[in-house]
Amino acid sequence: MYKRLLVTGGMGFIGSNFIRHILSRHGDVEIVNLDKLTYAGNPGNLEGVESKMLRFVKGEVCDREVVDRLVSDCEAVVHFAAETHVDRSIAYAGDFVSTDVFGTFILLEAARRHKTKRFVHISTDEVYGEAVGSPSKETDALMPKSPYAASKAGADRLAFSYYCTYDLPVIITRCTNNYGPYQYPEKLIPLFVTNAIEDKPLPVYGTGKNSRDWIFVKDHCQAIETILDSEGQEGEVFNIGSGEERSILDIASLVLSALGKDDDLVEFVPDRPGHVRRHAVDTRKIRERLGWKAAHSFDSAMRKTVEWYRDNEKWWRPIKSGEFRKYYEQHYAQGS
Ligand code: NAD
Ligand code: DAU
Repeated sequence: MYKRLLVTGGMGFIGSNFIRHILSRHGDVEIVNLDKLTYAGNPGNLEGVESKMLRFVKGEVCDREVVDRLVSDCEAVVHFAAETHVDRSIAYAGDFVSTDVFGTFILLEAARRHKTKRFVHISTDEVYGEAVGSPSKETDALMPKSPYAASKAGADRLAFSYYCTYDLPVIITRCTNNYGPYQYPEKLIPLFVTNAIEDKPLPVYGTGKNSRDWIFVKDHCQAIETILDSEGQEGEVFNIGSGEERSILDIASLVLSALGKDDDLVEFVPDRPGHVRRHAVDTRKIRERLGWKAAHSFDSAMRKTVEWYRDNEKWWRPIKSGEFRKYYEQHYAQGS
């Protein structure tokens, strides 16, 4: 394991879970967490983590100077920072192009200058667009359907170009939908769980038959650690997923039954423009080459996740009454 890591976006959902994961397993790894603290960045995501090995820098990935200084002082970069919500990208595409594409460019340039030993670029399975027939393979064409997915596809291929052109040791990951503790409640699972706890409607876009492959965030963190530690995989892309495909209606009924709530909380609302019917990835490459596979079953990890939100109202209630409330009222009032 590299001893000095720069993690970007470590105050977000997956980044904070990843920092917890690494600190709990490696007492000798220093982490610098660069995060702008957008609406999605929350210092509360790292509450209780008291380690002299962790340093937080509030800053912007598009800021050349800050990025250059931090990259110069680390061995490896794990780049999570991004604007991440598909619905918001429909309303504010420019923020996504700026952070997701230009921010990645600034980091790659600094990594090239300072000869970073490993650059793990966190991409997404959204870059494939629809998974028609078989789950998407790493070699499939990229057909992103939302401004978010297209920005991530741009960053994904830009990272690859730095490997091809400048020999920067880049590895790219494309993971499916994560769920677990500390996920901002704009995303489906924490939105449905917290709305159900509050006896509010669960807004289902369109028919509710769209499906995703759902992975527990701790499995994703383990996959990233495995990739960070792997030998000789420079320039490679790895899909990460669990194979647990469920529709939106499946998720709604599971959440409602776990919380003992009535099915009539389901409310059908207008569909999301460009809504991807199915995301699913083929994970043979990471399983066979690196020996990683998801360790948590969907049923038990979902049960734990529902319990976590039930037991941690002090984490999500302030979020839902702040910036989120305005967003929610606007977004769902207009239809998606
Ligand atoms: P998130 O929205 O919860 O967190 C994003 C973090 O990035 C926040 O802490 C935010 O403050 C920070 N950030 C945003 N813009 C920044 C900027 N300009 N400079 C510095 N920091 C900035 O996101 P997440 O769900 O944890 O996703 C993390 C990464 O994983 C993203 O790259 C996302 O595309 C990718 N991903 C997410 C999923 C998923 O299901 N959530 C699946 C596959 C890939
Ligand atoms: O596939 C990986 C991607 O998963 C990540 O790259 C993104 O950052 C992450 O946000 C997620 O994208 P999705 O669009 O799949 O996630 P979201 O939680 O927004 O929606 C999941 C599904 O639920 C999708 O089919 C839309 C539907 N949905 C979502 C919301 C918020 C609803 O039916 N109602 C809703 O209110």
